[in-house]
Amino acid sequence: MKFSERVQGIEISGIRRIFEGAGPGSINLGLGQPDFDTPQHIKDAAIRAIREGKTGYTVNAGIVELRTAISEKLRRENALSYRPDQVIVTAGASEALHLVCQALMNPGDRVLVPDPGFVSYAALATIAGAKVEGVPLTSTLHIDVEAAKERMEGARLLFLNSPGNPTGAVESPESICALVESANDLGVTVVSDEVYEHFIYGKPHVSAACYGENVITVNAVSKTYAMTGWRIGFLAADESVIGQCMKVHQYCQACATSIAQYAALAAYTGDQSSVGVMRREYQARRDLLYEGLNRLGFQFPLPEGAFYTFVPMGRDLVEKVIRKGVIIVPGDSFGRNARDYARLTYATSRENIAEALTRIAAAASE
Ligand SMILES: Cc1ncc(COP(=O)(O)O)c(C=O)c1O
Repeated sequence: MKFSERVQGIEISGIRRIFEGAGPGSINLGLGQPDFDTPQHIKDAAIRAIREGKTGYTVNAGIVELRTAISEKLRRENALSYRPDQVIVTAGASEALHLVCQALMNPGDRVLVPDPGFVSYAALATIAGAKVEGVPLTSTLHIDVEAAKERMEGARLLFLNSPGNPTGAVESPESICALVESANDLGVTVVSDEVYEHFIYGKPHVSAACYGENVITVNAVSKTYAMTGWRIGFLAADESVIGQCMKVHQYCQACATSIAQYAALAAYTGDQSSVGVMRREYQARRDLLYEGLNRLGFQFPLPEGAFYTFVPMGRDLVEKVIRKGVIIVPGDSFGRNARDYARLTYATSRENIAEALTRIAAAASE
């Protein structure tokens, strides 16, 4: 059998590999998924949809009620005005990112990704035939705006992710504005991945599309409403982008799962109190993990959002920690610039975090 060179050129995600190798009794600080259950009213909406027989294909772009709810959410929470026909409902943010890569990239195009950054950007751009170039982060783990600007000339796309995975960094409005405006001047499209927008501990979230029309907004219910398995996300953009992305979506996905679309509709239009409950709990866990790691001598900037700490840690220690039964992800899974780091997620109980800190202390003193 012969395989595509583009696909052979990427590797299975290092995160999944480590997760699969977890022994019994391991504490998982590896996988970036909320440990909360999906709120009941959202589950009820899905059950209702099944009972009412809403189980066939929907229109390709997603049911109009959901696209209207997303358009209203974007206006209410993000100060963005996208009409419902400027939204495509996708199978998670992942599909939205894939559509953008397929629809906007030509073979050999240069694409800029934060390095370290979320693993899918480089992989999906590579599958689309693009050449991936990393943009380094500053010592505070924020995107280096000047370094990004230097690389923009002739680039096709820039991925922006605030709050960021794996760093937890929240970019300032000034940085986001500077990046979008420079990109606009140089004909670069910005893909703004905002899946962690509701998990920020003290700062405001600012959507990149507030600063220019060269921005595609990507988001999902996955993290906000603890719905990773439901696979609903979206992209919002101007008509020309939607038109091209729709072709790819139509042929590779047809539509997002009908039942999950009704659940997402309930998520966006129903009671929002669970989001605040999760945010407060994540913040308490972040403090617990951050302070515990500080006490063990790990010095790094306080993560401002998402549910990750990105911790300076040599490869030897990462391996010892994993052998002690704490699953963490080595920094090199996220790019070339983070070999001596590890990502530890705090989307797990306070008890697990306390036990993980005890095991990390034991690994560090070996
Ligand atoms: C930054 C970022 N974007 C997108 C995704 C994928 O989201 P979804 O589960 O909605 O496909 C993730 C998941 O970990 C993520 O961390």
